[in-house]
Amino acid sequence: MERQIVTTADGSKTIFLPEWNEHYHSSHGALQEAQHVFIRHGLHLLTSDYITVLEMGFGTGLNALLTFFSSEKRNQYVHYIGIEAFPPSEEEIAAMDYASFASDPTSGAIYEHMHATSWNTPAPISEHFVLEKQLCDLQNATVAPETVDLVYFDAFGPRVQPELWTPEVFQRIYDWLVPGGILVTYCAKGQVKRDLKSVGFLVESLPGPPGKREMTRAFKR
Ligand SMILES: C[S@@+](CC[C@H](N)C(=O)[O-])C[C@H]1O[C@@H](n2cnc3c(N)ncnc32)[C@H](O)[C@@H]1O
Repeated sequence: MERQIVTTADGSKTIFLPEWNEHYHSSHGALQEAQHVFIRHGLHLLTSDYITVLEMGFGTGLNALLTFFSSEKRNQYVHYIGIEAFPPSEEEIAAMDYASFASDPTSGAIYEHMHATSWNTPAPISEHFVLEKQLCDLQNATVAPETVDLVYFDAFGPRVQPELWTPEVFQRIYDWLVPGGILVTYCAKGQVKRDLKSVGFLVESLPGPPGKREMTRAFKR
């Protein structure tokens, strides 16, 4: 499938798949979307010293990089599980240039380290951050029940990958979450919210990032 590197409205880059007419991030701003949906309305709700974050669709690693710096500021220890079936190429990852937005001189080295670590083996990125990248389909991910505090659900949209937005998938995620655990996603489709509710989530709609009216946050009861 053809893949193009494009610049989004806030100046940060993303990957565009013309055949699907689908971007890896919002064309209104990749960085703004990641900060708004996953960091501000997800990570910032967690106040414990030790947390486990799972990302569905590790992709370019933008959310992992932002989580690294945000949790470091808050002295949180993070176990970050990134599930990815089709990793971007080294050239694509380098072309994203996300480190230049992180306003930290170590961000380039951290981003490279995250991508250089082996798949399927937890690897320390720093004293406070362990990255466990799982190279597999979401269906085959290995996650212990009730161990995850926060899920970044960042799959391609239900228009192009409906099989990832089903009650069955949400049930798996529900089982991985600790009681009170949180799922956040950029998607605000009514059917997705109904399917989240159908497996037991308490679902709320929040204002979306620039260019999008709403996003969704769901809590395990
Ligand atoms: C919308 S992109 C988001 C990527 C990532 N969060 C980022 O910031 O770059 C969705 C990601 O999900 C991955 N993906 C697609 N189908 C998958 C599946 N069945 N299991 C695991 N990952 C999948 C894609 O390869 C892609 O990297």
